Amino acid sequence: MEYALITGATGVLGTAFCREFAKRRYNLFLTGRSIDKLTALKNSLVEAYPGVNCLVYAADLTSEEDRKGLFAAAGQYSFNMLVNVAGADIQKPFIGYSEEKITFQSRINFEAAVSICGFAINHRAQNLKIINICSVCGLQPMPYFALYSACKGALIDFSVALSAEMKKNGVTVTAVIPGSIYTRDDVREYISSLGFWAKKSAKTPEYVVIKSLKAARKGKRKTVVGGLNKVICALSKLVPQGIKLRYIARSRANVCKDAF
Ligand SMILES: NC(=O)c1ccc[n+]([C@@H]2O[C@H](COP(=O)([O-])OP(=O)(O)OC[C@H]3O[C@@H](n4cnc5c(N)ncnc54)[C@H](OP(=O)(O)O)[C@@H]3O)[C@@H](O)[C@H]2O)c1
Repeated sequence: MEYALITGATGVLGTAFCREFAKRRYNLFLTGRSIDKLTALKNSLVEAYPGVNCLVYAADLTSEEDRKGLFAAAGQYSFNMLVNVAGADIQKPFIGYSEEKITFQSRINFEAAVSICGFAINHRAQNLKIINICSVCGLQPMPYFALYSACKGALIDFSVALSAEMKKNGVTVTAVIPGSIYTRDDVREYISSLGFWAKKSAKTPEYVVIKSLKAARKGKRKTVVGGLNKVICALSKLVPQGIKLRYIARSRANVCKDAF
């Protein structure tokens, strides 16, 4: 039996992917850190989509031991879809980072996604499609969001290179590059504090899911989500780096958001 593997399934965007896949009658293998949240998610999916086949496994994806456990549990199945959603958006001056935060953010936003791509490729069904959730932050180095933007940038590059490597094996890899998404309360609050264009370019999780699946179906290597975000990304290439960095530093210097 073939499964769709979704990391970060318990988060807001991850849950939107789960619902769409359940609607499309995929068999689901879901992971997140909390077994309670996973069980509640599974129950809600089974209630909304009777007959859906849903397996869950709790793992901290920054831990090699936990990843080994996940791979042992999932290794008996094959996968026709992988969506790497798990991520953490710590946003604060780098000078305030502990060693633990550096390791955590690097691992969850990059290492874990790469590791799970490796697993899924080794346990692939025919025509495996991989979607890696990146961010427009990965297209531009961002002061006060430096590690997050670097990790997402690395994930974009990794996805694009891997897509070329795996083409001959019938595997597609798509870097999905969203701008702001109306997800957690703190993110929604942050979006509402932004200017007109930033609010205008923000998308719902459901919109991002549909665009991601469309891009994966077409075998796109990368896709910026939303027309306005596409225009902003294209135009920003024309602006000198120094000006962009000064603007971002000024607008982000007072934002302080942690994650664990
Ligand atoms: N929201 C935005 O504006 C935005 C914009 C661009 C890109 N993105 C990207 O979209 C993705 C989802 O964002 P979201 O807003 O939906 O975030 P979210 O609701 O906070 O969900 C994050 C998910 O990642 C999981 N996770 C975090 N650390 C983990 C770890 N160490 N091991 C395993 N799982 C872990 C969380 O699991 P738990 O339930 O256990 O915490 C949760 O399921 C992220 O990759 C984010 O970078 C978001």
